[in-house]
Amino acid sequence: MKRPVHGGNLVWAAEQIGCPVSSILDFSASINPLGPPPSVLAAIQGALDSLQHYPDPNYTQLGKTLSQWHQLPPEWILPGNGAAELLTWAGRDLAQEKQTYVMIPGFKDYWRGLQAYGANIVPVSFPWQTPNALNFLDRFQDTDAGIIINNPHNPTGQLFTRERLLPVLERFKLVVVDEAFMDFVPPAQQESLIPLIADYPNLVIVRSLTKFYTLPGLRLGYAIAHPQRLQKWQAWRDPWPVNSLAVAAGIAAIKDEVFAQQTQQWLLSAREQLLTSLSQIQGLTPLPNFVNFLLVETQIPSSQLQQELLQMYRILIRDCLSFETLGDRYFRVAVRTVEDNKKLLEGLSDICAE
Ligand SMILES: Cc1ncc(COP(=O)(O)O)c(C=O)c1O
Repeated sequence: MKRPVHGGNLVWAAEQIGCPVSSILDFSASINPLGPPPSVLAAIQGALDSLQHYPDPNYTQLGKTLSQWHQLPPEWILPGNGAAELLTWAGRDLAQEKQTYVMIPGFKDYWRGLQAYGANIVPVSFPWQTPNALNFLDRFQDTDAGIIINNPHNPTGQLFTRERLLPVLERFKLVVVDEAFMDFVPPAQQESLIPLIADYPNLVIVRSLTKFYTLPGLRLGYAIAHPQRLQKWQAWRDPWPVNSLAVAAGIAAIKDEVFAQQTQQWLLSAREQLLTSLSQIQGLTPLPNFVNFLLVETQIPSSQLQQELLQMYRILIRDCLSFETLGDRYFRVAVRTVEDNKKLLEGLSDICAE
C-alpha cells in the first residue's frame, strides 16, 4: 500500500505493523477526541427509519438550521458530502480562471479538485516562518486569477485576519476560503469571512462538520456562496450527496452548544499542555497556534519518528512528506485527551532521548 497523502489512514498504519486498526492511537488526523456528541449519536439512531426514503434533495431542514446558525438566507448555503466534495466543485469553478494560486505547504486535496478540471495551478510558497508571513498575499496583483486560502492554515495552524484577506477579495476573480478548522478557534478570535459573504459574489467559503463534531466517517460539510453559484453546483452534482443520517447528525450537532463549549474548554488547556511538554523534548520545536493540531519541527526525520512510534507504541503521527517544503523536518499531531497526549509524549521522549 502506498504511503498516504492524508492523515487518518489507519488501514495503512495497521498494515505496516501487522496489528488491528482498532489498536492504533491516531494523532495523524486532526479530529476532536471528545465526540461524536451523544446528541448526534441519538439523532443518528432516531433517523434509522428514514433510510427507507431518499433524502430531501434540497436539504431543507439542514439548510434552515445552518442558515439560523450563520444568520444567512438558506439559499446561500449548500450542504455537501464533507468539505472535500465542495472543494471538487470549487475546483471546477476555479478551473475557468486564467490561473489559480495554491499555497505551499498546504492541504493536498485542493490539487485533486483543480486537476480534475484541468485548472492552471500556480503553487505559491507561503513563508510561514518569517515574522510577516501573512503579508505575502500583498504581492498578488493578478485580477484574472483565482486563489484557494486555508484559514486557519493546515498544517501550520496560522490564522489570517479578515483585514489581511479583504484586499484579496478585492483583487481576485474567485477566492475560495477553506475554513475547515475555524470552529476550533476560540469564538472571540475567529476570523471567518462569513459576515462578508453578501458583499462578495467572488467569495466561496467551505466549512466542515467532520472535525469539530468527530464525524469523519459520516462525511458532512457545507459551502457558503452566492446563490447563483450554489445553484450551478447543485445542478452539476449527483442528486443526494448527503445521506439521511448525516443530515440528522448535522442538525443535532449544530444545536449542541454544550458540546461546542466543552470542546473549547478542553482544547485551550490540552493544547497548551501538549505544546509546553513537546517543547521540553530534546530536538522538538512545536509551533503555537489556535487550532486542534500542532506542527512540530524535528531533528530526527519525521518518517523515522513515525515508524518508531508506530512499531513501539502503536501511535500514528502525520509525517509531512506530502507537504511540499516541509518534508522530513516536520510532523503534525492532533491535540487529543490529556491521557492520550501523555502516551504520545512518553513515546516521543523515549525515542528522542535514545
Ligand atoms: C484543510 C482541510 N480542508 C478540508 C478537509 C476535508 O474535510 P472533510 O472531512 O469535511 O471532507 C480537510 C481534511 O483533512 C482539511 O484538512
